[in-house]
Amino acid sequence: MKICLIGAGYVGLVSGSCFADLGNTVICVDKDKDKINLLNSNKIPIFEPGLEELIIKNKSSGRLSFTTEIDLAVKKSDIVFICVGTPTSKTDGSANLKYVYEVAKELRKYINKFKIIVNKSTVPVTTGDRVEKIISEKKNRKLFEVVSNPEFLREGEAIRDFRFPDRIVVGTENNKVINKLKSLYEPLVKKGAKFLSTNRRGAEIIKYASNAFLATKISFINEIANKC
Ligand SMILES: NC(=O)c1ccc[n+]([C@@H]2O[C@H](COP(=O)([O-])OP(=O)(O)OC[C@H]3O[C@@H](n4cnc5c(N)ncnc54)[C@H](O)[C@@H]3O)[C@@H](O)[C@H]2O)c1
Repeated sequence: MKICLIGAGYVGLVSGSCFADLGNTVICVDKDKDKINLLNSNKIPIFEPGLEELIIKNKSSGRLSFTTEIDLAVKKSDIVFICVGTPTSKTDGSANLKYVYEVAKELRKYINKFKIIVNKSTVPVTTGDRVEKIISEKKNRKLFEVVSNPEFLREGEAIRDFRFPDRIVVGTENNKVINKLKSLYEPLVKKGAKFLSTNRRGAEIIKYASNAFLATKISFINEIANKC
C-alpha cells in the first residue's frame, strides 16, 4: 500500500519504518528541514534500539523515503497518518491540538482522490470530528474518511511494540476503510495481535483510558513502595 506519515518523530519514524518493512511504500514527512536532512543522510535523530538498521534497510530497498514536501507525499498516498505532537499544557493539563489542526488544513489542499486520513496522535475525544470538519470545509466529504488509530508503543521498546502489539484499535464506521486497514495490519494480526474495530470517538477514549489506567497502576505501586 502507499502510505505517508505526517510528523517524523517517535511515532512517525517507528511506524513508518515498520510499515515499510512489512512491504508498503512509505513516505515520512516533517516540516523540520534539519530532521529530514539528517534522515536523508542516514542519521537518526532519536535513539531507539533497531531503528537505524530498519531505516537504512528500507531506504535502500526504495520502500522508505523522507521529505518536507507534504503536497507530493499526500498526492502519492492512499493512507495518510497524522503523527504530530500533542503536548500537554503545564497549566491545565489539556492537549495542545494546534499541530493536528494545522496538518488538517494542509491536507485539505492536497486531497486529489479518495484518502484515508488516520489520526495516530493522542487526542481528546471529538478531535477526529473537528479534523473531519476542517477538511470538509474545502473538500467533498466523499473524498476522505477520518479514522482514529491510536498508538500504544513505548519508547525503548517501540519496534517490538509495533511488531507485536497486543491490540490494534481502529475507529471508523466505514466498512471499506475497516477492510483496507485490516489488510494493512494483516501481517501483525497473523502473529496474534487483536484487531479491534469501533467508532472514531470510541477509539479516541480507548487511548485516553489506557493512558489513565497505566498512570493509575504506576501511582498505586509507588504508594505501596512508599509504605514498604
Ligand atoms: N512517543 C511516544 O512514546 C508515543 C507513544 C504513543 C503515542 N504518542 C503520541 O503520538 C503523537 C506524536 O508523538 P511523538 O512522540 O512522535 O512526537 P514528536 O514530537 O517526537 O514528533 C512530532 C513531529 O511532528 C512534526 N510536525 C509538527 N507539525 C508538523 C506539520 N505541520 N507537518 C509536518 N510535520 C510536523 C514535528 O516537527 C516533529 O518532528 C503525540 O500525540 C503523542 O502523545 C507518543
